[in-house]
Amino acid sequence: MNKRIAILISGTGSNMLALVKSMEGDHPGTVALVLSNNPNTIGLQRAKNLGLPIVCLDHRPFGKDRIAYERALHQVLLNHSIDFICLAGFMRIFTDEFISLWEERILNIHPSLLPKYKGLKTHQRAIDSGDCEAGCTVHLVTSKLDAGPLLGQARVKIFENDTAHLLRRRVLSQEHKLYPIILKRFLAGHRNFFHLDK
Ligand code: GRF
Repeated sequence: MNKRIAILISGTGSNMLALVKSMEGDHPGTVALVLSNNPNTIGLQRAKNLGLPIVCLDHRPFGKDRIAYERALHQVLLNHSIDFICLAGFMRIFTDEFISLWEERILNIHPSLLPKYKGLKTHQRAIDSGDCEAGCTVHLVTSKLDAGPLLGQARVKIFENDTAHLLRRRVLSQEHKLYPIILKRFLAGHRNFFHLDK
């Protein structure tokens, strides 16, 4: 039976679109839900235009009560019989309670070569550090931020006079290749590290 995937977004949803596009034919997963915490995100509109099941679960009415938000989120995921979660630019950090409910079942894509540059502003930090390469990582989500087991990476060169904007674009285009490959491998039971060659 195909695994039912929820893709969680907060922004433009370009990784979501790459995943959706890849999940055709004999793919072991089906997009069963695209969910956003942000009612105004373009990504949710894009998913709707594709006829995908969408839910907006706005975080604002929950204020600072992260647990209450996550309980509502968990219920939505159960209602859609979700097996696995793909975070694709979902700008919320989960509590241990939520992670333990979904242990080994949440993937994330991060725009750096983890373990370098956890958190935000990854491209500028790579440039500022004088690195000659940057990239993206797909990893399992654990209670430690951006520190779960690595499933795969793709690298890009950093050029002289590079800017965070240009680097972000090049990394993003690798993200769109890497995430679909890793999701397919993961659903087929592969957990060993994969490196995407340019
Ligand atoms: C990507 O850079 C991803 O690595 C990060 O959030 C961004 C989402 O971009 N986690 P998009 O919404 O998929 O275009």
